[in-house]
Amino acid sequence: MYLSAKPVIAPTLRRRTAPVPSEVRKFAEMIEENEMVLDLGAGTGHKTVFLCTATKGDVYACDICEEFVEELRKLIGFKAFKCDVRDLGDVPDNYFDKVLCWHVLMFIPKEDLDRAIEEIKRITKDGGVVLYGFYRVKSALNPDFTNPETFREASRYVCEKTGDVLEFRCKGRDMCYCFVKVRK
Ligand SMILES: C[S@@+](CC[C@H](N)C(=O)[O-])C[C@H]1O[C@@H](n2cnc3c(N)ncnc32)[C@H](O)[C@@H]1O
Repeated sequence: MYLSAKPVIAPTLRRRTAPVPSEVRKFAEMIEENEMVLDLGAGTGHKTVFLCTATKGDVYACDICEEFVEELRKLIGFKAFKCDVRDLGDVPDNYFDKVLCWHVLMFIPKEDLDRAIEEIKRITKDGGVVLYGFYRVKSALNPDFTNPETFREASRYVCEKTGDVLEFRCKGRDMCYCFVKVRK
């Protein structure tokens, strides 16, 4: 048991030292002093740490995985919490100015995707900005994000359903991202 449990977290922790994608750096530049920021589906906090150090925002982070939330708590204390993007529960409406949702929504079953997008819109202020990242991955729970024929379209769907798309780009057939201004 001990041996099988350890590697689950270890590779993710190592990723904390991985380079931060240029899109996330650009997102950080958009964050103004004291703005409310959420790293949604933060894992063990690779980008949370970056957002805390590179911005003057008030950075929160959440994840569905309790082990990851424990790691996040070591980084940002009470500002880390357990969440399920499909039901963000106690998070008040219009709470965050900026939301990072990087490499998360592929792991939401297709039938739950609209609910997840609605929740992201609910907790983000009108005019707030969401940065989504998507990558094509076999373990995605939504098959649209595994198929190279539908990957781009599925990514675009999320962006357009969230609000006004400020920028939508794909790198080849396997990676897309978008900046979206939330419209209520
Ligand atoms: C590929 S990792 C990305 C982690 C982080 N965003 C990053 O870029 O380093 C996907 C993360 O999404 C989280 N996740 C999956 N389903 C979720 C859900 N329903 N609600 C919140 N987080 C979820 C996973 O636990 C995992 O930490």
